[in-house]
Amino acid sequence: MVETTGLQLDVVVQHTCALGEGPVWDAKRNVICWIDILRGEIHEYSPEQKTHRTIHVHQMIGSIALCTNGNFIAALQNGFGFIDRTSGEVRIFSDPEENLPNNRFNDGKCDPEGRFWAGTMPLSENEPAGSVYVAGKDLSITKKIEGVTISNGMAWSRDEQIFYYIDTPTLEVVAYDYEKSTGHISNKRIVIKIPKEDGFPDGMTIDNDGMLWIGHWGGWQVARWDPDKGEKLHHIPLPVANVSSCTFGGDDLEDLYITTAKKGLTEDQLQKQPLAGSLFVVRNCGFKGMPAFEFET
Ligand code: BGC
Ligand code: CA
Repeated sequence: MVETTGLQLDVVVQHTCALGEGPVWDAKRNVICWIDILRGEIHEYSPEQKTHRTIHVHQMIGSIALCTNGNFIAALQNGFGFIDRTSGEVRIFSDPEENLPNNRFNDGKCDPEGRFWAGTMPLSENEPAGSVYVAGKDLSITKKIEGVTISNGMAWSRDEQIFYYIDTPTLEVVAYDYEKSTGHISNKRIVIKIPKEDGFPDGMTIDNDGMLWIGHWGGWQVARWDPDKGEKLHHIPLPVANVSSCTFGGDDLEDLYITTAKKGLTEDQLQKQPLAGSLFVVRNCGFKGMPAFEFET
């Protein structure tokens, strides 16, 4: 338990991920779901029942979103697929990068129309070989963005007119005009520039004031940014360096869940950051999130 500027940061459950990522609040079941990309696991925790469940998918998993039938849609090592919530069975339906074995999927999310967006990255993390794809309701795949190095955070504005996106090494958040009916994006512009001292921008979510909450990899914090002014408004310090993503959960979407990673830390750093890889929560954080969009099945 760490006190931060009047807010209390708690570890949700005694479990550490190699690369914790992709938190999603499942409001129908009141559980927080997150993934361990490198170990190929989906985690589910019920704050009411205090139960923790792990689904093993036996390959790397970059991101998940909820389906309306309760299962998951995911971007896995072998492509886009569905994961049965009960059995953990994976059914791949398309692999747009079958010919790129040195890439893997990373962050992804459903858009307001229920399409599933997910990006890729080279395992080397050092060349712009990744892309962003969208799986439509008909399971067709469309490439949306090319030339990204570490495809990461995604969010849509409340009025569903803007798509926010992070390619981590750019240290920028960019915005596109977004057309909900077609999923078309255009008019890319930079809305936030992150100073290097703050760490690299990773996963993100949006609150109901339209402000972006970003996990700062190597930056020991989650921060709230104003995409209209490009300004940092607020930050929550974490006791671990690699903060990967965050989302709002709980009955009123006022609890901020934060994923972190052990990846990238030396033995020495790991000893000094025993909580690295934990899922943290700031209950009643003073802000409210937006419900996660789901994929219709
Ligand atoms: C990726 C990691 C990467 C990190 C920081 C994460 O989303 O999964 O592999 O190191 O971002 O850029
Ligand atoms: Ca990420």
